[in-house]
Amino acid sequence: MIHRPRRLRATAAHRRLVREHTLRTADLILPMFVREGLEEPQPISSLPGVVQHDLSSLRGAAREAAELGLGGIMLFGVPEEKDATGTGGVDPDGILNRALREVRREVGDDILVMSDLCLDEFTDHGHCGVLGADGTVDNDATLEVYAEMARQQADAGAHIVAPSGMMDGQVRVIRDALDEHGRTDVGIYAYTAKYSSAFYGPFREAVNSSLTGDRRTYQQDSANSAEALRELELDVAEGADLVMVKPGLPYLDVLSQVAEASPVPVGVYQVSGEYAMIEAASANGWLDRDRTVLESLLAFKRAGASSVLTYYAAHAARLLRERPDEFGEYL
Ligand code: PBG
Repeated sequence: MIHRPRRLRATAAHRRLVREHTLRTADLILPMFVREGLEEPQPISSLPGVVQHDLSSLRGAAREAAELGLGGIMLFGVPEEKDATGTGGVDPDGILNRALREVRREVGDDILVMSDLCLDEFTDHGHCGVLGADGTVDNDATLEVYAEMARQQADAGAHIVAPSGMMDGQVRVIRDALDEHGRTDVGIYAYTAKYSSAFYGPFREAVNSSLTGDRRTYQQDSANSAEALRELELDVAEGADLVMVKPGLPYLDVLSQVAEASPVPVGVYQVSGEYAMIEAASANGWLDRDRTVLESLLAFKRAGASSVLTYYAAHAARLLRERPDEFGEYL
């Protein structure tokens, strides 16, 4: 035998030399929830270890994320009152905009502060847009609300806004709104290939969602991958600075195709259901939690992601920093 691939796997030193992909703390983005009216953080039962923050605990967690060297944080707001048009999302004193102001005052430019730009957290029907007379989501009426949300989030201090509603033309409308508002500096991280997915289950609890039904008229059908490339083309043409595939592990094939085709950096969202699965299996002793977490994050890098949104961001950063002897194989 001339070729023995095992030769290069013999010791940790061999494996280190030929390792193709690595995880960096700066690749990781931590999604965080802030809920109006809380005095102290509130656990989310289906996401053990993740909380709905009050404003003060959010500031502390943002500071910690900056000190760990994470690439960014992504803020989601949970308002006390929801209504049909999601007024809380455009209110400069709405919970998400208040949180952005306070967090930016806390961290400055030490870490990128990103904001979810979507209506589902703010509407009483739980949809990502406003409803038309026929009860379906009215695309173009929703775009007008998104434009105002973008201006408010920019004023509140978002470095980057992240439209996640899958409305047609949303990136273009937001880019125009920001530019006309004098905010050419604010970036757009577009949820480009966002699938209608059962893996978002625990997120519904995290944002106290009142959704009945589903989002299939605007989020992508899980059977489709060519469609993701069409969405990519549109979002890039409309001015997206970064694009995202979501969920993560069940859509690695889509991530890989999008990464191959994209002229802009590609990210991926390891969503609430993916987190919950790892937590549940680890709690039962069926999976080694830390190794499973790092292996899943590395899989995203291998598939072509440059950034990864994950509820494990701070935890993974601590593993890489504090226990390099154990987890060095990911570095
Ligand atoms: C919509 C949004 C959702 C998630 C992120 N942004 C919910 C949905 O589209 O139904 C899900 C994230 C997760 O499950 O972790 N604003």
